[in-house]
Amino acid sequence: MSATVPGRTSPQGEISRPNPRPQAERFGDDYTAFCEGVRALTSIDLLQYKRGQMERRIRSFAQRRGAADLPAYLAQLRGDRAELGEFLDRVTINVSQLWRNPEQWRVLETEVLPELLAESSPGRIKAWSAGCSYGAESYTLAALIRQLDPRARAEIVGTDIDRRMVERAKLGRFSADDARSAALPLLRRWFTREDDVWQASSELRSLVRFEVGDLLRMPTKRAAYDLVLCRNTVIYFTEDVRDALHERLVASLRPGGYLVIGSTERVSHPRELGLVATHPFTYRKS
Ligand SMILES: C[S@@+](CC[C@H](N)C(=O)[O-])C[C@H]1O[C@@H](n2cnc3c(N)ncnc32)[C@H](O)[C@@H]1O
Repeated sequence: MSATVPGRTSPQGEISRPNPRPQAERFGDDYTAFCEGVRALTSIDLLQYKRGQMERRIRSFAQRRGAADLPAYLAQLRGDRAELGEFLDRVTINVSQLWRNPEQWRVLETEVLPELLAESSPGRIKAWSAGCSYGAESYTLAALIRQLDPRARAEIVGTDIDRRMVERAKLGRFSADDARSAALPLLRRWFTREDDVWQASSELRSLVRFEVGDLLRMPTKRAAYDLVLCRNTVIYFTEDVRDALHERLVASLRPGGYLVIGSTERVSHPRELGLVATHPFTYRKS
């Protein structure tokens, strides 16, 4: 751990843990020891996430997997890669959907994207889906951009901490359930149906790419994007960590670029970050 302010970014680009506990206080805390063990195994730092819900979820999962306590479950994870995979599935919560929260996509379609496309000719948009899960958000964005401007040059990068989700995102395959919020004409235009799977077209696939990355540790690409979507990912972080992450997301936007957050989320001090709220859950960087 570096000696940075909790929840702030260290010189190495990592967001430090909120309220790190002194060694003595931590002694006997099997949850903290478990998280440190998981961090050594996977690099994922569960101590950055809200403790209450994360701890409850982990303890009940460990119990269901037959472990007597957290030290026993950590030993199990150390010896069983498949179990480790199941565990990560449980803690990272990968739920997503094509056109998830349609009202947010309507704002993007009618306000944000037309404005960004009008700023260059042909329209050019560089976007980041931060916490992309299996890619539904990135493909939805690609479809909307091309729907608005068939000549648009879009570069959409999706990043997620969960390597298995990133591999899945690259396939561009979605279940009927994933597609439940999508309008059928749009689905048919941009995806082909193969049995019960909606397969993203090669045109969409050429606009997206996916990378593994921990939002709390990856270096910030300054002023790199016109649009950053970070939805339904920070809800699991402590407030300090969430605020520090929002600051980094804003740094990765160019002036005039947009940040879109989840419809149950908030940016604590938008003005301090140079953000102006333009629509619900949508901010423009001044
Ligand atoms: C609920 S999904 C949200 C997917 C998509 N943004 C949406 O709104 O449909 C949250 C994703 O955040 C990812 N995640 C959690 N912690 C992360 C971190 N520290 N860095 C990158 N991704 C993270 C999880 O793996 C999961 O895929």
